[in-house]
Amino acid sequence: MILGSRDAQRASETAAGLTLIGSGSVSGGTNEDAADADVVIVATPWDSAVATVKDVKARLEGKVVVSMVNALQKQGRELVPLFPPRGSMAAEIQAAVPGARVTGAYHHLPAADMENLDSDLNADVVIVGDDADARRTTVEITDAMSGLRAVEAGSLALAGAVESFTAVCISINIRHKAHTYVRLAGLA
Ligand SMILES: NC(=O)c1ccc[n+]([C@@H]2O[C@H](COP(=O)([O-])OP(=O)(O)OC[C@H]3O[C@@H](n4cnc5c(N)ncnc54)[C@H](OP(=O)(O)O)[C@@H]3O)[C@@H](O)[C@H]2O)c1
Repeated sequence: MILGSRDAQRASETAAGLTLIGSGSVSGGTNEDAADADVVIVATPWDSAVATVKDVKARLEGKVVVSMVNALQKQGRELVPLFPPRGSMAAEIQAAVPGARVTGAYHHLPAADMENLDSDLNADVVIVGDDADARRTTVEITDAMSGLRAVEAGSLALAGAVESFTAVCISINIRHKAHTYVRLAGLA
């Protein structure tokens, strides 16, 4: 796995501080290096996501590109959702790199629990996307991660609802001083 950054040195230092679970390796590099992977995860603030993928557009051709980007704005004690023109950030990214196969995932995960290897995280990851193979790939890499269960929801048209619900999750966290996450009842 390659952590991409605008500053490869910073990414290398971050990668060196990570604990690897399972097989493989993790290293730091440029955003171009990260975009050379088979599966590329976009995890920048919403207002830089489109520019970031456009910068590596040619490298993303045909790739599975997973957006975990939420367009949110702080208002008082709450985070409220912003609604991009195409309905979601995942759709904006798909429009910016039409040759990529964009999925949406990981929007609701609390970073603090993901970073803490001793946390009892038992979260569902709602996965959307228009390309069935790309959705399946996203399901596979998600189910391989400890503490996560992939739940395929449907097409990219659902991404706006998934992303905007993050504002609800974070506002609940602020109000209740908690690290909530999504767990869907009723699934086999
Ligand atoms: N934090 C969470 O709990 C969480 C959970 C689910 C989803 N998300 C979503 O994931 C995305 C990233 O969240 P985050 O909390 O990790 O944000 P962050 O720490 O502010 O940003 C992540 C990385 O994006 C890069 N970046 C920042 N500004 C940029 C710019 N102007 N242009 C290009 N790259 C830039 C930076 O990497 P370099 O400086 O190294 O290039 C930074 O380390 C957001 O859209 C968020 O909604 C976050």
